[in-house]
Amino acid sequence: MSIIENTREIPDSVLNWSADAPKGGKAVMNRVLKDGAAVPLFFAQTLIASLRDVGYNTTTSALCEHVDNAIQADADEVRVYFRQAGKQGDAVIDAAVYDNGRGMAPNVLKVATSFGGSMNFNNRSGIGRFGMGMKTAALSMSPTMELFSWQEPNAFYNMTLDVDAIGKERANAVELPDPTLMNDLPDEIADFFIKPMGFPTSAAEQDLFVGRGDDINERLGQSGTIVYMPACDRLTYAKARTLVEHAVKEMSRVYRRAIADGLRLYINNRRVEAFDPTYSMASARHAKMIDVETKTSRLLFAKTIEVPIREHSHKKEKIIIRLYRLPIEEWSTLSRKCLRNDLQVFNGLTVSMLRNDREVFAGAMTELTTRHAVTHWYRIQIDFPGSLDEAFGVAANKQGVRPKGYVKDAIKLAIGEDLTTLNEEIKRYQGAQASARNSAQPSASEAKATDADQHQAKPLQLTAEEEAELEGNLRVLAVALRRDGESDDEAFERIKESKYLIEFKHDEYWPFYHIEHRFGRVILTLNTAHPFFEKLYEPLRKLAAGGAFGEEDDGIEAPKTEGQDGPLVALELLLLSLARTQSQIAVSNEDAKKTLETLRREWSEAYRVQLTA
Ligand SMILES: Nc1ncnc2c1ncn2[C@@H]1O[C@H](COP(=O)(O)OP(=O)(O)OP(=O)(O)O)[C@@H](O)[C@H]1O
Ligand SMILES: [Mg+2]
Repeated sequence: MSIIENTREIPDSVLNWSADAPKGGKAVMNRVLKDGAAVPLFFAQTLIASLRDVGYNTTTSALCEHVDNAIQADADEVRVYFRQAGKQGDAVIDAAVYDNGRGMAPNVLKVATSFGGSMNFNNRSGIGRFGMGMKTAALSMSPTMELFSWQEPNAFYNMTLDVDAIGKERANAVELPDPTLMNDLPDEIADFFIKPMGFPTSAAEQDLFVGRGDDINERLGQSGTIVYMPACDRLTYAKARTLVEHAVKEMSRVYRRAIADGLRLYINNRRVEAFDPTYSMASARHAKMIDVETKTSRLLFAKTIEVPIREHSHKKEKIIIRLYRLPIEEWSTLSRKCLRNDLQVFNGLTVSMLRNDREVFAGAMTELTTRHAVTHWYRIQIDFPGSLDEAFGVAANKQGVRPKGYVKDAIKLAIGEDLTTLNEEIKRYQGAQASARNSAQPSASEAKATDADQHQAKPLQLTAEEEAELEGNLRVLAVALRRDGESDDEAFERIKESKYLIEFKHDEYWPFYHIEHRFGRVILTLNTAHPFFEKLYEPLRKLAAGGAFGEEDDGIEAPKTEGQDGPLVALELLLLSLARTQSQIAVSNEDAKKTLETLRREWSEAYRVQLTA
C-alpha cells in the first residue's frame, strides 16, 4: 500500500510533527515537500506559533512593548488592565492596553498587524525599530491579539491576529484581511473602561476611565489604540493582583522620565507615580515618603563621553554618565523598613541605563562598581542613544543590555577613579557609624577589660591635686574622643569610667591597629580602611548586632535581636590585651618601643597582603 496514494501525506520519518501541530501548516508543508509547490519565505502557520516563544522575561516586560508604542504615538494617557474572571484555580485573565495617542489609519493598522510591519523601521531616534514588538509581546501572553484603533470619534477599526485560526489556513502565503469598522467597541472591551477591576479590591481606589454618566465614545475621543489580549494562557503570575503589583513596580521605574514629562499611566485604574532608582527626581515617589530635609540624592557629576558605534569604528556617539550619592548621613537615620520597603535602597539597582529616555536596564553591574555594601549608597545612570544599540547589546525585545567589552572599558575609564574615591568616602562614614554604635557608654569589651584591670594592677593612690589634674586632662581627651550623638559631658563620664577605649579611623596608609597610652587610658584605634576591618571585624560586629554571616549586607545596623557578641568581645579583648601589654612594655623601654612599632607595621602589612592576595 503506497503511503502517498492513500494518505497524501509524507512518511513520519520525514515530517516529525506533533499531533497538535497546525493542520493548515501541515497541508502547506505536504504540498511543498511532495508536489514541489513554491516555498514561502515564512511558513506563517507554524512561524506564528513559534513566535509566541520569543522570550519576554516577564508579563510586565511584554506589556512594556505596548506602552512604548503608545508613548511613541504621543499618548499622554495610557491604561493597562488585568481583568480576572472566575474562581481561583480556573481564573481567566484578560489583559489590555489603551492609549490616547494618534491612533492608526486603517491601512497603517493593517500593516502594523503584520510581522515586520513598522512605521519606524530601524529609526534609532525613538523606542521602536524592529516592527515586531506589538505582535510578539501580545502573542507571548495570549493566542489572540485584537487591535482597535481610531482617528475620528465613533469609528473604531479592528484587526485580529489569531494563532489557532492562522494555523488552520491552508494557503501557502497567509494574507491579512482588511480591518473591520465598528461604531462602538464590543462590550467585552468597553467593560474595561466602565467597570472597576477586581483588584484593587476597593472600587474607591480606582479612577475609572469613564466617569458616572459620561459617554464612553466621547471619552475615547479623536484618536487612540487598544491592544487586547483575551484569555491569557502564558503569564508570569496567576493572579491579577500580583500582575498589577509587578507592573506598577517595574513601569513606575522604566517610564519615570515619561511620567515626569506628563504621561498619565494607570494600571487597573490606579495612577502610577514615577519611581527613581537614582533618587534625583524631586517629583518621584521617594520624595513623598520621607520626613527628612534632604529628599534627593546629590549629583556628583555628569560626564559626556564618546563611544564608537562598533569597536574601532571612527563613528562615535555621545553617552552621558551621571554619578549620584545618596544622602547616607541623613537617610541612615530613617527606619530600616522605610529604607528597605519604601525607598528600596537595598534592592541592588546601582546602575540604570536609559535608551532614548526609556530605561532598558536597572541592576547591579559589579564589573563597573564593587560588590561591597557601599554600592547601596550611590547610583550610576547612563543615557545612550539608539544609534549605540549594537554597542550596548540591545535586543529586539528591549529587555536588558549587554554592553560590549570596549564600552564597559570606556565607562570604567571615565568614572573608575571617582568611584574609588566615593567607595572610600562611604566606607569611612560607615566606619565612623560603627564607632558611634554605643555612644555614651563603654562597650562590653571596654567594660570587661576595665573590670579585669582590678586583678591585674594595684589601684593608683592619687592625691586630691593629682585627681583634679587627671580630671582636667580627661575632659580634654573626652572632647577629642567624643562619639556621634554624645555630649562632651557624656563622653567625659564614659572615659572616666573606662580604662580601655576603642576608636576607629579610616586611613589607607595605616596599620590595622594603633595603640596609645594617655592619662591611664589605653586607647586602641582600629583602622576601617585595612582589610582586617572588612573581613574580620565587621562580620563579627554584624553577628553581635543580630545579623548572620552572609545575610543581606546593607551597611546599616540591624535592630538588635538575638545577637551573639561573644566572638566580637573576644576579638576586642585580644586586641585590648595586646594594647595593654604593648603599652606597659613601651612605657619603660625605648628600644622595645621601636621594635614593637616595627612589629605593628610589618605584621599589619603582611596581614593585609595575606587577606587580599
Ligand atoms: N499604540 C499605537 N499607536 C499608534 N501606532 C501604533 C501603536 N502601536 C503600534 N503602532 C504602529 O504599529 C507599528 C508596529 O508596532 P510594533 O511594536 O510591532 O513595531 P515597532 O514599534 O515599529 O518596532 P519594535 O519591534 O521595535 O517595537 C509601529 O511602527 C507603529 O507605527
Ligand atoms: Mg513597538
